[in-house]
Parts: sequence; structure tokens; C-alpha cells
Amino acid sequence: MTTESREVHWVYVAEKGLVPKNEGRKILWGDRQIALFHLAHGFFAVDNKCPHKQGPLADGITAGGAVYCPLHNWKIDLANGCALAGGEGKVRTYPVRLEGEKVYLGFEITETQIPMKEVMAILRPSQWGRTKQKLTEAGILAFTQRRVFGRGKQRGLQYWVAKKKTDRSEMGISFIPKRIVILVLPESQVNTAVNALIEANQTGAIGDGKIFVSPVEEVIQVRTGLNENRVKEMGGAPL
Ligand code: FES
Repeated sequence: MTTESREVHWVYVAEKGLVPKNEGRKILWGDRQIALFHLAHGFFAVDNKCPHKQGPLADGITAGGAVYCPLHNWKIDLANGCALAGGEGKVRTYPVRLEGEKVYLGFEITETQIPMKEVMAILRPSQWGRTKQKLTEAGILAFTQRRVFGRGKQRGLQYWVAKKKTDRSEMGISFIPKRIVILVLPESQVNTAVNALIEANQTGAIGDGKIFVSPVEEVIQVRTGLNENRVKEMGGAPL
């Protein structure tokens, strides 16, 4: 029998301000739903499934260090996940770490349990400074970018030039300067990255750009030659 090594993987999940005092909020990580609570004595996280009949604990009322399930009022201790009243049962808990205004949750995982994704965005070059700022603010520190030329369905920039009243010729610029940004991230950070990219680049006009998300099979560090399908740093694997 082999013993799989497990380690805690810290994932940035929210700003502290997202969860008002004495309330809970639902957070998604991969296919897990987690209830994050902000109590007087700190932040607590448990699976968002009541041990009775899967009620959404994030919507419950908090009291001291516990929450009352909104469905049938079981009382759950948020420190250890145990039912204190209503019946017997236990919900999974997660360690919480605060760094400044950012909330991180600790997930116990094996190396192969971290699905990696590539996020590639083609954006307006004028938005690059803002894009860099928003990604950094979101805790995503490692990315690659370069200047490129491209065009969409509009075939670049096309316009008519009138030489005389009856003589017009179509002119244009076939390829427009763009900025390409490439990130390789754990799947859990993809939504954060996509939201930051949209926030930095969305004007509502044609040409705002496109974002592509695709799976990454392996990450190999050139310096060591090691297969790194795990990410120890917040912010993804540097290319
Ligand atoms: S589902 Fe929570 S008490 Fe019934």
C-alpha cells in the first residue's frame, strides 16, 4: 500500500471586506462550495453543506462561534465542524489565514490534485498598465506578456477614402497592435484572474479583447527539470 503525501495548499479566496461581521458567504473552489464566516474572533471556513440534509450553512444565522442551519436549525460549531444541537454530525473545516486584507484557505491536497489552466488574453495595449495592476491586486504575480498584431472579424481597421465624389477606395490597417498576456494557474485561481482581466479591460466597445482558458497537462521547471504539477506560491507558476 502506498502512502500519498499530502500538503496544505493556501489559496486566496476573498478580500476580508467581502464578508460582513457575524455573517457568512459562499465561496467556490473547484467543485467545492465553502462557507466563509467572519466572527468577532476571526474568520472560519466549513463546507457549505449542513451534516443533516446539506443545508447552505453560509446563509445561516451566527451566534458566538456557531452557525444555525437555515433549513432545520441545527447548530454547528464553526471551529471543529461538530453539531452542537439538533442532531449528530460533522462538517469539514478548513484552516484560514489572513494576510493584510486578503483571506486564504488551506486545502489539503496531493500533488496531482491541482488541475492547472492556461489563461491567454488578447487585449488593447493601452490597458496593459491597468491589467498588470489588477492582476497584482488580485494576488496573481506571475505572468508573461508580449506585444503582438492581430485582428478580429472586422479585418482590422477598414475605411473609405473619397478621391472624387464618385471615386472611393477602401483603405485600412489589416493588423492592429495588441497585447497578449499568458498566465498558468491552479484552476482555483482562474475566476479571480478572469475577473481581474475583465475589470481592467472592459470598455464595452469593439476591440476590448478576448480571454481563452485551456487545460495544462504538465508544468516543468527548466532550472531543475522537475515536473511541477503543483504550485506552492500564490499567483501561479512562472513561465
Ligand atoms: S439541513 Fe441543516 S438542519 Fe437540516
